[in-house]
Amino acid sequence: MDLNGKVVLLTGASDGIGAAAAWIFHQRGAKLAIVARSADKLARVAAECGGAVAVTGDITNDAVRRRAVEETIARYGRLDVLVNNAGVGMYVPAYEADMRQVRGMYELNVFAPLELIQLAVPHMRKAGGGMIVNVSSIAGKVPLPWFTNYTATKFALCATADTLRVELKPFGIKCLTVCPGYVKTGFQDNSLAGRPPDRLWSMKKFGITAEQCAAALVRGVEKDKRTVVVPRLGWLLQPLYIFAPRASDWYLERIYRGLKMGQRS
Ligand SMILES: NC(=O)c1ccc[n+]([C@@H]2O[C@H](COP(=O)([O-])OP(=O)(O)OC[C@H]3O[C@@H](n4cnc5c(N)ncnc54)[C@H](OP(=O)(O)O)[C@@H]3O)[C@@H](O)[C@H]2O)c1
Repeated sequence: MDLNGKVVLLTGASDGIGAAAAWIFHQRGAKLAIVARSADKLARVAAECGGAVAVTGDITNDAVRRRAVEETIARYGRLDVLVNNAGVGMYVPAYEADMRQVRGMYELNVFAPLELIQLAVPHMRKAGGGMIVNVSSIAGKVPLPWFTNYTATKFALCATADTLRVELKPFGIKCLTVCPGYVKTGFQDNSLAGRPPDRLWSMKKFGITAEQCAAALVRGVEKDKRTVVVPRLGWLLQPLYIFAPRASDWYLERIYRGLKMGQRS
């Protein structure tokens, strides 16, 4: 897709991968509508991106989702790309996680994206096409035991995109799933509960930057890709999980046992 002049609605754009992606979309000539809860940060990103539509609010709230789509259409008259980027994690064993927090994470990582898709599709159908981008994770391709509930939300998001791609094909609407590995953002600090164990935390230095991740996302949109795994090394993990699940369990168990869940020095 040539992004010049296209209208992009992007969630979670006040910080991290979303803020970096907003800037790159803007550089490509896209017109932006961005959403997040932090008004000041969002206003700054909107100003940097040529006066983008900025919708402040929590996207787990139906009124905020509707406002985001309505304000996009009111300003630009169309919607070409929806990027479901906002998301949150938690580092707590599934068997003892607070279910209110787990449900909250599903609301943000799974249900809000789906409801935004439902609001966006009629506009894309009217325009004869478009693209839906879901920011999932490597944890949506390979189950990570220190991240069980988060992994489940990201598998759900991947499955939604993979099946929607077929449902939406007749309308010319494409679906892209982005699966980042470790990205150096505030994501770990912003987790709903628990903290990455020391050993994982120390791996942050091997992570990619938000800008590198966002560049891969935007390239994926431009090249009409189905899936982007970034860094590409992440592709190696999935065949191990699919074709040698016991070996994958053994490997993940070794890592998991070496972790002290919820502790950080
Ligand atoms: N960083 C990683 O290592 C990594 C790896 C794999 C996948 N991911 C995925 O990448 C996506 C972006 O993560 P990130 O690393 O950029 O995290 P981040 O730095 O924590 O940024 C999250 C963004 O989402 C927004 N947000 C959070 N809750 C929201 C809500 N209820 N309503 C509206 N906006 C909300 C935040 O803004 P406000 O606080 O202002 O609302 C912020 O703009 C997430 O889906 C995450 O699961 C991240």
